[in-house]
Amino acid sequence: MRPLTIAIPKGRVQKQLVPLLDRAGFEASRLLDDDRKLVRETDDGRLRFLLLKPDDVPTYVEYGAADLGIVGRDVLLERRYDLYQPLDLGIGRCRMVVAGPPGRALPAVPRVATKYTRIATEHFASKGIQAEVIFVQGSVELAPIVGLADLIVDLVETGSTLKENGLVEHELICAISSVVVANRSLFKLRHTEVSEIVERLRAAVAG
Ligand code: PRP
Repeated sequence: MRPLTIAIPKGRVQKQLVPLLDRAGFEASRLLDDDRKLVRETDDGRLRFLLLKPDDVPTYVEYGAADLGIVGRDVLLERRYDLYQPLDLGIGRCRMVVAGPPGRALPAVPRVATKYTRIATEHFASKGIQAEVIFVQGSVELAPIVGLADLIVDLVETGSTLKENGLVEHELICAISSVVVANRSLFKLRHTEVSEIVERLRAAVAG
């Protein structure tokens, strides 16, 4: 049987995971190695990590290529997946906001640039505001500066990207953090192993 496989997002959360795994009793410092390896194991070979783009984590778990995944709630809110969500890790904390230039009057139908078209559409619809939502992949903060959009919907962590581009937060949509997701059938098939990892992570989060 293959080692227990955990799909994780490359980048900020990857680094925050190492101390948490350490508290859970897994030596995963290879996650900090500055190389291009997409598969990394703990020293004891019990866990195998797949390093993915955040948006791809649920896909690997849903198809059973990974037993567990670690993914931001933003990804799960934007696209619906049939995954078990046993634990919030409390890392990768940030917030989904509406932001824009300060003090600019909005047109009747504001244009909103975002990577999160579903979250943005549902947010404005829930407020009874008609908005034209425009999909962009990243560097969303640029859109209001050059007139592509009036507003953006995006993640904010420290706030420095907004600040450095002359934008301010208008509204909080929701708080975001990283959660553990599990493939429903593998969670039953490999229950002992998978639930042991989840419980050790739960204790590490609580501690
Ligand atoms: C994210 C997000 C913001 C930025 C917020 O982008 O989309 O642009 O981080 O972080 P801050 O509040 O700490 O400045 P990311 O760095 O993931 O790159 P992207 O623009 O390519 O999405």
